[in-house]
Amino acid sequence: MPLKNKILELQKRRELVQQGGGEKAIEKQIAMGKLTARERITSIVDKDSFNEYDLFVEHDARDFDMDKVTLAGDGVITGTGTIYGQPIGIYAQDFTVAGGSLGSMHARKITKIMDHTLKLKMPLIGINDSGGARIQEGVNSLAGYGEIFFRNTLASGVIPQISVILGPCAGGAVYSPALTDFVFVVDKISKMFITGPEVIKSVLGEEISQEDLGGAKVHSAITGNAHFYAESEQECFEQITRLLSFIPWNNIKKATKIEPKLPNTKLKIDKIIPEDAKQPYDVRDVVKCLVDNSDFFEVQEYWAANAVIGFGRIGGETVGFVCNQPLVLAGVLDCDSSDKIARFIRYCDAFNIPIITLVDLPGYLPGVDQEHAGVIRHGAKILYSYSEATVPKVTLILRKAYGGGYIAMGSRHLRADFVFAWPTAEIAVMGPEGAANIIFRKEILAAEDPEKMRKQKVQEYKEKFANPYVAASKGYIDAVIEPHETRSRVIHALEVSTYKDAGMPRKKHGLPPF
Ligand code: HXC
Repeated sequence: MPLKNKILELQKRRELVQQGGGEKAIEKQIAMGKLTARERITSIVDKDSFNEYDLFVEHDARDFDMDKVTLAGDGVITGTGTIYGQPIGIYAQDFTVAGGSLGSMHARKITKIMDHTLKLKMPLIGINDSGGARIQEGVNSLAGYGEIFFRNTLASGVIPQISVILGPCAGGAVYSPALTDFVFVVDKISKMFITGPEVIKSVLGEEISQEDLGGAKVHSAITGNAHFYAESEQECFEQITRLLSFIPWNNIKKATKIEPKLPNTKLKIDKIIPEDAKQPYDVRDVVKCLVDNSDFFEVQEYWAANAVIGFGRIGGETVGFVCNQPLVLAGVLDCDSSDKIARFIRYCDAFNIPIITLVDLPGYLPGVDQEHAGVIRHGAKILYSYSEATVPKVTLILRKAYGGGYIAMGSRHLRADFVFAWPTAEIAVMGPEGAANIIFRKEILAAEDPEKMRKQKVQEYKEKFANPYVAASKGYIDAVIEPHETRSRVIHALEVSTYKDAGMPRKKHGLPPF
């Protein structure tokens, strides 16, 4: 065959596969408000940077008349590209081809790109839009999932793994995203569940829609499975590239340093803490006064909102923020916020991102519900993660730091490198009211006017302990500083932590309270 014809043949073959599941299936995809798998990839990576592999891979199933069926690219598109000119690996399941179902060759395409990303130390982006295990391929498709989960685990803490849920992600398929670092969901498009509404109806007799069972809002606000929520696919892609602008490409490289810009000068850090210690405020206002250009990228914004986590830059370098949020439940720690904080600390630690902790909390949330939900086990995760983290750790106590909350939130005792406190800090075993009621109970009961005595004792306790100076006198905090001094103090603390070597004992691995 002449060369010209061979090229024509290649072009024809390519075109055929690139049509995916065909016109009708693509129309259905569009009618559902979804982009095609190819459009999704090209919307995320740098223009013209996508290089596809394994376009001509075909499934090898024979049962259920599968030998008569050709599936374009076996329902998944894989390749490499760049974002900000830096290399990434990416795959997108193509729902127009057999519902994006995962057979053994489909899985092999994914695991091949996973192996590449791990070897070449670049982030992996996986776009999920699939009916799950390809039913006709039986155990071979289950084996494919197992191979993916194994690689997700190997790559964990080595390269960033990003999952984008842009369609159904059902059954065991949800466990690959659950093993990755960040999960992105889009309103009305994303669906994640172990057992679908039909199974729930037949087993439990309960009716529920896919949306209410495992839609984007459910996973962003209730389960915490998703880290980023978007209204549209386009917004989701912008969030992905924004995340990648903050994090390093692997666990050896540092995040790209950029020219620092000062925080917005209209924000007044000295005026954020209210006069009345019982009044709430938004801790994100403090963060915005500290980070370059007041640019803070929040993670898991809608879940466990009594804690705020996210990325920013200080002096041009990426840092991770872990904060109590006085606006929600007074910033207490509970099961969910403990999980949220602990996992984020581990992410930052794995990827050499210094951790800045902002403390203002009355402690762990009391109550039967929390105790029975395992607040002891969940709360311990924070202690474990801070103690284990060897990246630079800077802690700032803004106001309340009571009881276990004081210890847990990046205290000196869990090896914070620098601990600062504002003059508004109150560091004590518990709040003045509770403390006075317990230790002065006899005096209060015996007093002629118990209420007056109670107030007097509360005041006494406040003067003695509800300040930062007792902790400062023991060296548990390094400096009491004015709010406007904070940014320069933190920049300096990070600068002098450049060569930190925490020297942890050798072990295979510890046993965090999972
Ligand atoms: C083979 C599948 C498939 C699957 C969908 N298709 N899921 N083919 N295996 N798992 C095919 C359909 O037959 C159809 O093919 C095409 O994809 C589009 O599917 P529709 O049903 O027409 O689409 P829609 O109405 O949008 O419904 C989407 C859906 C539904 C909700 C995802 O297809 C569905 O419930 N699928 C089965 C989901 C499931 O139970 N998967 C197994 C989970 S168990 P045609 O040729 O008609 O266009 C699992 C175990 C993993 O995944 C364990 C790992 C540890």
